[in-house]
Amino acid sequence: MARKLLLEHIQVPGINTFEVYRQKGGYRAVEKALKTLSPEEVVEEVKKSGLRGRGGAGFPTGMKWSFLAKPEGVPRYLVCNADESEPGTFKDRYLMTHIPHALIEGMIVASYALGANTSYIYVRGEMMPQIRILERAIEEAKAAGFLGTNILGTGYNLELYVQPGGGAYICGEETALLESLEGKRGNPRIKPPFPAVAGLYNCPTVVNNVESIAATVPILNMGGEEYAKIGIERSTGTKLISASGNINKPGVYEIELGLPVEEFIYSDEYCGGITNGKRLKAVVAGGSSVPILPANLILKTAKGENRLMTYESLADGGFATGTMLGSGGFIVFDEDQCIVRNTWNFARFYHHESCGQCSPCREGTGWMEKVLHRLEYGHGKMSDIDLLVDVSKKIEGNTICPLGDAAAWPVASAIRHFRDEFEWHVIHGEEAQHRNFGLAHY
Ligand code: NAI
Ligand code: SF4
Repeated sequence: MARKLLLEHIQVPGINTFEVYRQKGGYRAVEKALKTLSPEEVVEEVKKSGLRGRGGAGFPTGMKWSFLAKPEGVPRYLVCNADESEPGTFKDRYLMTHIPHALIEGMIVASYALGANTSYIYVRGEMMPQIRILERAIEEAKAAGFLGTNILGTGYNLELYVQPGGGAYICGEETALLESLEGKRGNPRIKPPFPAVAGLYNCPTVVNNVESIAATVPILNMGGEEYAKIGIERSTGTKLISASGNINKPGVYEIELGLPVEEFIYSDEYCGGITNGKRLKAVVAGGSSVPILPANLILKTAKGENRLMTYESLADGGFATGTMLGSGGFIVFDEDQCIVRNTWNFARFYHHESCGQCSPCREGTGWMEKVLHRLEYGHGKMSDIDLLVDVSKKIEGNTICPLGDAAAWPVASAIRHFRDEFEWHVIHGEEAQHRNFGLAHY
């Protein structure tokens, strides 16, 4: 059995309550941090751990914390990004539902490290049950003296608030989230300045994903150096993976980074293989915003090495033959899946969710959706395929926030790896609707 750090006690009845969480060693990290370490020492432990942002970008968490500006007399904020909306990604929801105190404990540790006295958990608006669960957990932690004024008699004060999100995917982009938290429409801001310099109410702010914040608890408990021994290369520790699609055991799994992709898909400990004994066709490994890879390239790199669940291995080969770990939203397609239809489905999502601020994204996502729709429904032309590539190139790198890239990459990669399937749709017209194309890639 693989080592579990975040989900170790997930099966313990009542682990969602303060009492049981505490019995299982909960809030030790808060005691250790507040009573024995300075805020700088906590930052140092997180740096040593090598933890990288678990929301999708993989930016080193300790480094982000050390970038936080500290002007005299200006408040600093920690904001937890719990606006999880990436298609195929549901691990933060799982964590908040079942072990809410892991997030609350992490928020206290991280707020202390950053010198924040007011912190927010911005939860996706649709997640009302999780909002209530977190509010109850905050009340319990407060009643036990872990939140509020003079926490554990150390003189440290922290107020923690849960804010329901604005109900749009774009509100998960960190600067749009801050706009929304300030009560405005969730439009992304141009970066720089990064939130670490000018964030919430123009004050220095760290925005971290739920899982990143929860991971600071085992890091503090075991020490950054020990945590860094788990995983390989610059992919240290464990990662929650949301596994979905045509697999026997969909769900949320905690893996040690470095696990071979093949083992993740086929072993009974994880996905348990492809449903109905079908063949694997493709995988989107990191939420819908990352390039799709055909079976041969998700299992092995172009160099013929086993592909591993790490930031580096999944990216090996760049976008020509690789992809990204992203948010860990692992979507598996079997041989019956139609790539054209699935690509259209993703494109529909990004078009709907574009905030409309920049033309390449606002117009480009619309065009991609329209062209993919006509290809899927049998009215496409051969020239549409290159038109899609062209539109995706015009979006990529030319927008305010990463939603534009996120919309362009799935389309470009689907055509890169499955062009013959797009052509097949053009040749066969309406007869090709919702149909997959052969198995030439396997
Ligand atoms: P990013 O790479 O722009 O930034 C990563 C983090 O590092 C940000 O917090 C940023 O402020 C910080 N940062 C980067 N350079 C910095 C500097 N020089 N100084 C200070 N701070 C700096 O990526 P971003 O926009 O935060 O995230 C994009 C990712 O989010 C995508 O890769 C996608 O996979 C993922 N995503 C996840 C979703 C989810 O539901 N979990 C939803 C949508 C996207
Ligand atoms: Fe809005 Fe799209 Fe521009 Fe992001 S890339 S700011 S979502 S229009």
